[in-house]
Amino acid sequence: TQQPKVVFVIFGATGDLAKRKLFPSIYNLYKKGNLSENFAVVGLARRPWTDETLRENVETSIRKATATEEELSDFTSHFYYQSFDVTDDATYDGLNKLIIDLEGKYETDGNRLFYLAMAPNFFGLIAKKLKEYGLKESAGWTRLIIEKPFGTNLATAKELNNEIREAFDEDQIYRIDHYLGKEMVQNIEVIRFANGIFEHLWNNQFISNIQITASEVLGVEDRARYYDQSGAARDMLQNHILQMVALLLMEPPIKLTTKEIRSEKIKVLRALRKINPDEVYKYFVRGQYDAGEINNQAVPSYREEHEDLAFSNTETFVAGRLLVDNYRWAGVPIYVRTGKRMAEKTISIVVQFRDLPMNLYYKSHKQRYPNLLRINIQPDAGVTLSINASKEGTGSLAEPIELTYNQNDVPGINTPEAYEKLLYDCTIGDATNFTHWDEVALSWEFVDPILETWAEKQPSFPNYKSGSMGPRAADELLEKDGFHWWDV
Ligand code: BG6
Repeated sequence: TQQPKVVFVIFGATGDLAKRKLFPSIYNLYKKGNLSENFAVVGLARRPWTDETLRENVETSIRKATATEEELSDFTSHFYYQSFDVTDDATYDGLNKLIIDLEGKYETDGNRLFYLAMAPNFFGLIAKKLKEYGLKESAGWTRLIIEKPFGTNLATAKELNNEIREAFDEDQIYRIDHYLGKEMVQNIEVIRFANGIFEHLWNNQFISNIQITASEVLGVEDRARYYDQSGAARDMLQNHILQMVALLLMEPPIKLTTKEIRSEKIKVLRALRKINPDEVYKYFVRGQYDAGEINNQAVPSYREEHEDLAFSNTETFVAGRLLVDNYRWAGVPIYVRTGKRMAEKTISIVVQFRDLPMNLYYKSHKQRYPNLLRINIQPDAGVTLSINASKEGTGSLAEPIELTYNQNDVPGINTPEAYEKLLYDCTIGDATNFTHWDEVALSWEFVDPILETWAEKQPSFPNYKSGSMGPRAADELLEKDGFHWWDV
């Protein structure tokens, strides 16, 4: 492993993401030796904090993981705070001076990683100012990590991208999709392309359908302001889910390089069949959660979560049926669903293989146990393959049995968190698991018509109970094709 030297500059350092993900990730990188001693972190936000306040906050956010007080204060001593008004020019000068100081003190070779972990309204402006005030001029590399949302539709995403591209080149821009940092999402490629038994069958001749579920138990929490403007399609489908679709359906890359992998993913997104406005309600289902019960606890409806949501028509659930028009996948439906306040937290993929033309080992002709490959991403991380065998040894009746590998059960494997992996990738200049602009644009192109059609008509919300697996219509999507959602 490399030990990068770098100054991290985190915009939004008082926020939730910094506290929950970024500080712990930087700490883990440091502790594991994936970051050299030559690093500093500048935290920026509006609040009038001091270095001390920031350090205390960093300490709280990593306390669980640490060993001694000394280690803690060694680590947090690398953190500096500057209160920042993104619109005030004087603060960019101040920031530049601070960074130059820290570069001297920590000998970071001029490498600068700017991380935009805040409300997206200012992404464009900040990028522009960073260039204008010379913050991009250093002896080392400069890179920019951008959190989602990357626009709210294709037009706004383009605008944002143009603004950013005026200041940064495409290869300096790291658009983060944290699903791409998940161990088992990264494993999709390996499971497919390192196994003849799967890859030879990975096409419309042998696969009948693919199902992707990303269900959450949590509701909107304290993110009402962001979430209500967004909704499930923008929050999860446009990015995380379509990224998984791309990884599942892409052709084998000719090399394991950023460029080759991304270009195969882009081809899948390009082949996604556009949904005509008059077909949106046929192939896509939206939902919003009603009150209900989860783990024996009563939970309120979405509209009751916050006074601003009382009349909201924002969807907290989306399911859809996707088709990919290329030689390998023609005719294979890809079903996806994601939502808040569902029965369980699961991210999983089920690949259903076609039935045999005739099977004498079933009890009745109605019975079907197709082979299933499950790729479990969360909470289990692993794979399960369902095959048929005779359990009682009678040699006649077939029943499904499962071959299971669960990474969580393997002693000694301590999977790094998604953010930790992706931060590391960025510091070593590996953009493979970040989204290229073309992917972002194609994903919006796919999602836009759905959102536009939905916007024309009031939904009848709420339409699914908290603690369920979504509206009934999401089941009917599959039933119309003779399928059903497999348990996840
Ligand atoms: C984020 C969404 O991108 O992903 C959240 O904004 C969602 O609404 C989260 O809860 C889910 O991530 P994970 O890693 O918990 O599946």
